Amino acid sequence: MGGCDLIHINHRTNPGWLSVQCPMTTDLNLTGLETSLSGSLAITEHDADLLFREARTVRTFTDEPVTDADLQTAWDLAKWGPTAMNTGPLRVLVVAGRQARERLATHMNEGNRQRVLDAPVTLVAAADTGFHTKLPLLAPHAAARVAHLEDAPQMRSAMARTNALLQSGYLIVALRAAGLGVAPMSGMDADAIDDDLLAGTGWNALVVLNVGHIVGDGGAFPRAPRLGWDEASITR
Ligand SMILES: Cc1cc2nc3c(=O)[nH]c(=O)nc-3n(C[C@H](O)[C@H](O)[C@H](O)COP(=O)(O)O)c2cc1C
Repeated sequence: MGGCDLIHINHRTNPGWLSVQCPMTTDLNLTGLETSLSGSLAITEHDADLLFREARTVRTFTDEPVTDADLQTAWDLAKWGPTAMNTGPLRVLVVAGRQARERLATHMNEGNRQRVLDAPVTLVAAADTGFHTKLPLLAPHAAARVAHLEDAPQMRSAMARTNALLQSGYLIVALRAAGLGVAPMSGMDADAIDDDLLAGTGWNALVVLNVGHIVGDGGAFPRAPRLGWDEASITR
């Protein structure tokens, strides 16, 4: 008695479904399954839409508040994204109160000011230039580098920026996974934010995220095209 035959997979139209034809007993032979799924998504079409294809840079939010639990849920996904040596230098300032929001708005480019004032919550994603002090916890294998990094502020700053920017991208996707709309903005005076709202932290502002619940596409502008894989890649 042989194994099972794979008789149909269309992962795009039937996400999550796999048809196999089996005799009454015996081994399920999935040889060739990996090849058959090549080029297909490993998440559902709905999730791919939510996270990427229909996720937009939104402009309007509902009145529904964003809770600490919402932000925690997003962070608990985003924190798993990879960073060099597991340094994880992203830090987040949650700008929730009216006074803090008004302070932040003064440091934004004019076109972004009202958006900050109107959003249910605004996050300042920042790079912690003192990230090396967490290495004994986050990267015990590299704990010996703490002293070296302590004396290399430029290297720390560059590492913090590169990796925290990566993590900012993870955070945007994670917020969307938590069902929230996100509007990223870097049109701002980052140094002024550092000197005002981030004074004394050693954090450098990278990007500001307006976050909230949305209806439909959240008033987004018409979608602009993206480069295709053949335009954005080379193979050697
Ligand atoms: C790092 C970053 C900085 C951005 N800065 C601004 C900004 O200062 N003002 C603004 O209106 N939009 C800003 N955007 C929004 C982009 O213009 C928008 O994400 C892009 O046009 C794609 O839009 P879509 O996500 O709706 O397809 C920024 C986006 C990113 C990721």
